[in-house]
Amino acid sequence: MAEKRIKIVAFLCNWCSYGAADLAGVSRMQYPADIRIIRVPCSGRVEPRMILAAFREGVDGVWVSGCHPGECHYLEGNYYARRKFVLMANLLSHMGLDKGRIHFSWISSAEATKFARVAREVAHEIVSLGPNEKLVKKAG
Ligand code: FES
Repeated sequence: MAEKRIKIVAFLCNWCSYGAADLAGVSRMQYPADIRIIRVPCSGRVEPRMILAAFREGVDGVWVSGCHPGECHYLEGNYYARRKFVLMANLLSHMGLDKGRIHFSWISSAEATKFARVAREVAHEIVSLGPNEKLVKKAG
């Protein structure tokens, strides 16, 4: 039987981390193919239910990345994102999910090198944890 491929969903802010991913791509920097990017208008728009839904659908890890503090295009979205993320990470941990499966970062659109490095670190940690079975929706 073939090994399950690790799936990581990355919610990236359009104005910063998504730009960094784009720059990393055009600069031909290598980062893991296990990461599926979802572009969001601001990290503050990532709702806890979106993270939970991702795990329910069988992803092995989630990464949320937004603008640096003080640089959010919607002023405070990244601060709300950070607060929501911490609460969600604690709740998911309480529900038995390993904390290493959920990551948060600040990456600006000029930081392609940082994007590629953090992507490798996130993927390395999640791959080392193996496939996730917790919270996954049962078929049928
Ligand atoms: Fe990037 Fe808000 S616009 S985190």
